[in-house]
Amino acid sequence: MRRVVWLLVLGLGACARATGGPPPFTAPLTLGGRVVPAAALERGRDVYTQYCRPCHGDAGDGKGTAAAGLMPPPRDLRLGAYKFAAVPAGQLPRDADFARTIRQGLPGTAMQAWQVPDTQLDDLIQYVKSFAPRWRSETAGDPIVTTPDPWVGRRADALARGARVYHGLAQCAVACHPAYVTRAEIAAFTKELTGIELRELRPDVYQPVPKESDYGVKILPPDFTFDRLRGGDGLPDIYRAIASGIGGTAMPTWKNVLPEADLWALTHYVKSLADLRDTPGARALARRLRDQPAWSPPPPPPAADAGPS
Ligand code: HEC
Repeated sequence: MRRVVWLLVLGLGACARATGGPPPFTAPLTLGGRVVPAAALERGRDVYTQYCRPCHGDAGDGKGTAAAGLMPPPRDLRLGAYKFAAVPAGQLPRDADFARTIRQGLPGTAMQAWQVPDTQLDDLIQYVKSFAPRWRSETAGDPIVTTPDPWVGRRADALARGARVYHGLAQCAVACHPAYVTRAEIAAFTKELTGIELRELRPDVYQPVPKESDYGVKILPPDFTFDRLRGGDGLPDIYRAIASGIGGTAMPTWKNVLPEADLWALTHYVKSLADLRDTPGARALARRLRDQPAWSPPPPPPAADAGPS
């Protein structure tokens, strides 16, 4: 009888293994151009099982036992698609990016800050890469370097420029994020920075617009005065998110598109909005925008001269 019970237990164990994570590693794997010994991957598997499996699942497919109903859902790690990294959006993250995501978590999601011991972190990161075939043929992206903040001691100037870049130059509110100034100001900033006369604005310009993503879910761009910033809300975190973009989403890479002074002005501006979250200031801003005077776009330009008829 006892033997039968043991056979059953072993049988179940074998089944669990067969349907679970990758088979035992017996040879080194090249991941992101680095040769990772089998023993390191097996150690990484143990760490993953302890901290990450409940959500990301044995197979790394994001379907762990604790994943049901989570929004956003735990990432399917087999996709090799990552949002938060100091590399141009869409390129593979560097180990420092994995370490930051694991240690800081992604605020506002179920992805907490996991206190994985230093000695286990590298093994874990390499194991996480082993789920995604991309790592076997590609290497990590080019790092996006955080330049020195040119606005130190000139915060008010940074915010004034940031509001103009956000609404006028980078057009962050045209089709994605909410606006935070009046319609007349959006038109004035657009004219000032691009020379373009704004003739229409989406009616819901104070709401974010849902966007498609590569993750099988629609993504709502954050309302900075309301939502937690998943990439973190320190100045370097915001600079990184803007400069790098958010992989697999509509948020593009802005590094080398905007000058550094404008990237930093945007960073300060977004930080000032994020600082309003959960304060009376956020409600005061919402009231100011709700009670703004009606905006009438300038009349259309005179029809082009059709020439002699
Ligand atoms: C309680 C559930 C939960 C656990 C446990 C968990 N995660 Fe996550 N993880 C998530 C969710 C949810 C997301 C998706 C967040 C998003 O899409 O914005 C995520 C996203 C990620 C990402 C993608 C980051 C990016 O830049 O897009 C990585 C990598 C990751 N997790 C690794 C881990 C590792 C490693 C562990 C274990 C130390 C772990 N997670 C534990 C829920 C979890």
